[in-house]
Amino acid sequence: MVEITLQNLRKTFGEVIATDDVNIVLEDGKLTTLLGPSGCGKTTLLRLVAGFYAPDTGKILFDDRDMTEVPPNKRRTGMCFQNYALWPHMTVFDNIAYGLKLKRTQGMKYTKAAVRRRVSEALDLVRMGGLGDRTPHQLSGGQQQRVALARALVIEPDVLLLDEPLSNLDAKLRNEMREEILRIQGELGITTVYVTHDQIEALSISDYVAVMDKGYIQQYASPRDIYDAPQTIFVADFIGKCTFIDGTIESAGNQLEVAIPDGQRVVGRTTLPGYPFEIGENVRCAVRPEDLHIRPTNSDDNEITGTVSQVIYVGSNIEIYFNVGTIQAVANLPPEFVTERGSEIKLYAPRDQMMVLPLGGVDSLRKVPGHPLYSFQETLEPA
Ligand SMILES: Nc1ncnc2c1ncn2[C@@H]1O[C@H](COP(=O)(O)OP(=O)(O)O)[C@@H](O)[C@H]1O
Ligand SMILES: [Mg+2]
Repeated sequence: MVEITLQNLRKTFGEVIATDDVNIVLEDGKLTTLLGPSGCGKTTLLRLVAGFYAPDTGKILFDDRDMTEVPPNKRRTGMCFQNYALWPHMTVFDNIAYGLKLKRTQGMKYTKAAVRRRVSEALDLVRMGGLGDRTPHQLSGGQQQRVALARALVIEPDVLLLDEPLSNLDAKLRNEMREEILRIQGELGITTVYVTHDQIEALSISDYVAVMDKGYIQQYASPRDIYDAPQTIFVADFIGKCTFIDGTIESAGNQLEVAIPDGQRVVGRTTLPGYPFEIGENVRCAVRPEDLHIRPTNSDDNEITGTVSQVIYVGSNIEIYFNVGTIQAVANLPPEFVTERGSEIKLYAPRDQMMVLPLGGVDSLRKVPGHPLYSFQETLEPA
C-alpha cells in the first residue's frame, strides 16, 4: 500500500478558495478522516487525491512518487461516492466488473474467468455473495453501498477514497456499514481517506482525523488527541461539548493564569505548545462537561461559581446548565446530585482540564514555530 503526502496544496474555483495550505501525511494502511462542516473543502481535497482536480499549487506524493500530474485512472485509487452512483440498468455483477473492463482498455487484460473470479471475491468481501444478478433497484440502500464499495475495491487499489459513504443510510444501517468498512479496511490494510461531517462517526472510525474549516486544516491528530487537546476554538467546539469562558491572560509561565468574568480567575494549560501567549491577550478557556466536578480532585483545582439555569436528567448522569456572568456553562454530574434552577452552584475543574485557547484560529497555529500544518510554506518562501 502507500503513504500519501499532501504538500502545500491549494485549490480555488474562481474566487472561492476551496482548500489551501494543506500539509499532511496520510499514513500507510491507516484510515484518515477529513472532518468538517458542509462546504469546508473535504470533497475537494478527496478529489485532489483521486486526481479529478488538479491543484493550483502544491504536490501529491504516493510514497515518493509524484502523482500531481498523473491522471486519475493511473493512480490506483478506488472511490466511493455518497449517492453510490451505480448504473441502474446494469446488474450488480456488471456494475462491479465495469472497473476491470476499463482497465482492459488500458492495455491490461483480464480473461473472462479472471473477471468472474475477482468480481465474486469483491462481492464476498462486502458480504454480497450470490447477489450478482440483481439490479440496483432490487437492493436496499445498505446493499447498494456495499456494491459501490465492491466496485471501488475490485481493481485492488492502493488507496480507498470514501466520500460520506454512510450519509444516505438510516442510523442503524449506518452503524452496521461503519463496522463493515472498518472490517474491510482492516482486512485489506488499505490506506483509506474517509470524508464525513459527522464527528461521532469520525472519532469512532479513524486512526487519524483532519478537522477542516473554511478550506483550512485546523488540526490533524488521533481521535483521542483531537478530543483531549483541541488546538483551536473551532476544533474544541465542533468535537464534543465544551463550555467556553472568555478571559484575559494574567500570567503566562508553565501554567496560564486567566482573569474571567465576575472577578473570578482560573489556571489552565495550553494545548498548543510553542504558542507565544502574551500578558493581556484575550483568550477563551474551554472545559469539557465531564471535567467539572462537585468536589475538588486536587487542592489547586479551579473553583467556578455560577447560577443553575437548567437541570436535565439523562439516566447515567445529569446535565447541569449554569450561568457564570453572561456565559452559559454545562457540567455532567452524577445522577444523585440534587440542585434546582436558580440555586448557586460551585464546581471544580482540574488545571489540566482547563484548556486555554488563543482566539486566532489557524493564524494562531501559524505563530507556532515549526507547527507541522503551517510551517511548510514559511520554509519555502520566507516572508
Ligand atoms: N466544482 C466547483 N465549482 C465551484 N465551486 C466549488 C466546486 N466544488 C466545490 N466548490 C466550492 O468549494 C468549497 C468547498 O466545497 P467542497 O469541497 O464540496 O466541500 P465539502 O465537501 O466539505 O462540503 C465550497 O465553497 C464549494 O461551494
Ligand atoms: Mg462534500
